[in-house]
Amino acid sequence: MKLWEGRFTQPSAKSADDFNQSLSFDYKLYWHDILASIAHVKMLGETQIIPKEDADKISDTLVNMLADIEKGNLEIDGAEDIHTFVEDELTKRIGAVGKKLHTARSRNDQVATDMRLYTKDSIVNVCGHLKTLVETLLDIANNNVQFIMPGYTHMRRAQPISVAQYFNAYSEMFLRDIERFTDCYKRTDVMPLGSCALAGTDLPIDRRMTASLLSFSEISQNSLDAVSDRDFVAEYLFCCSTMMAHLSRFCEDLILYSSDEFGFIEIADEYSTGSSIMPQKKNPDIPELIRGKTGRVYGYLMGMLTTIKGLPLTYNKDLQEDKEALFNAEETVLGCLSIFNELLQHISLDTRKMRTAAASGFSTATDVADYLVQKGMPFRDAHAVTASIVRHCIDNNKTLDKLDLFVYQSFSSLFEEDILTRVRANKSVEARKVIGGSARSAVRENIRSITKRLNRMFKD
Ligand code: ARG
Repeated sequence: MKLWEGRFTQPSAKSADDFNQSLSFDYKLYWHDILASIAHVKMLGETQIIPKEDADKISDTLVNMLADIEKGNLEIDGAEDIHTFVEDELTKRIGAVGKKLHTARSRNDQVATDMRLYTKDSIVNVCGHLKTLVETLLDIANNNVQFIMPGYTHMRRAQPISVAQYFNAYSEMFLRDIERFTDCYKRTDVMPLGSCALAGTDLPIDRRMTASLLSFSEISQNSLDAVSDRDFVAEYLFCCSTMMAHLSRFCEDLILYSSDEFGFIEIADEYSTGSSIMPQKKNPDIPELIRGKTGRVYGYLMGMLTTIKGLPLTYNKDLQEDKEALFNAEETVLGCLSIFNELLQHISLDTRKMRTAAASGFSTATDVADYLVQKGMPFRDAHAVTASIVRHCIDNNKTLDKLDLFVYQSFSSLFEEDILTRVRANKSVEARKVIGGSARSAVRENIRSITKRLNRMFKD
């Protein structure tokens, strides 16, 4: 049955019903919809807007319906949307009493409430996945504090860095993602129920009671805004998009670093694919797919922002479009996070290749300049002197650590014996003891700090 058909003289066309319906995707809200209805009807009973025994009967039946859905004994089908389905089923089970559930409520505030409840749970779920991922990264970092690799800018070897520092960099990004989702949670944690269709109700409802039954921290303060606000969905999608950007960058690194050209990382066979024509190929399909799926998550965000932008106050059916964006983004994000975490647990690092690459390509030239600065030379002059030394090496097919001391001294009398060890990649990494730098002590401190912040984020 349609909740609104009384006003019409003709039944709606089947094609129109098919186009209007949202049950094919909003069935996902059944849990939250029924919970919100239970809270609502309890409040209606407590405030004596409906008789207490009617409220109890409705609430008990809703609990049974939820159990039946969970057990697979009640199929969600045959209605315009999940709200209609639940009400239909309720009245099927207990007759006219069931019709009292929708007192002092509209589907407009109901759907906004369901969506907020769903989004809150989804945020907790995504953050749990992110926590697992950071823990995996911390494991890798802890096992690789002593190893070095090349650090890149412009995709050219720049300076040697610590392998652990590299993995910590992604932990930092994912920590920010958790923070962003947590912040989004605060704005999602506001209950719109009681706003009704758009203007509130003249019935003496107790919104605070419903909010506390549903564990909402706050209640909305303007009914017009409350039924039409989907900022929290857009914000959730932005959090997903930023997180996917980080995941995608990581995937790009893995794809490059696992190539024959780099050979730093090996992705386990179980998480790789082959080619149907080239027998030698081992392809990084999983990181490529994650990189690819980032596009669609951005798409859901763009779609949602565009849906919102031209809407007059208050509720408009356009808002039904929020669901597929949210559900699809959530599914994509959770899928990517869990497979990526597994893949990461199965990578192996060729630390010898990393070390060799870190030492080549004049990657310690900055150390030469810093050496001169420590001896009192202004940095710009030190930069110029070092550039001449690098030029000399290129012309004479030499490396910085294979250059004789007298050659260094021909460029500046400030050079002494210790320059020859200072230009070794290991020394270069160790010398950067600054907070956030690549020295072992700094990297260990970074690991401690990441662990501390992660624990703090999940302390309650
Ligand atoms: N399926 C609808 C949605 O998702 C529920 C709200 C319908 N409200 C209405 N006034 N037609 O937005």
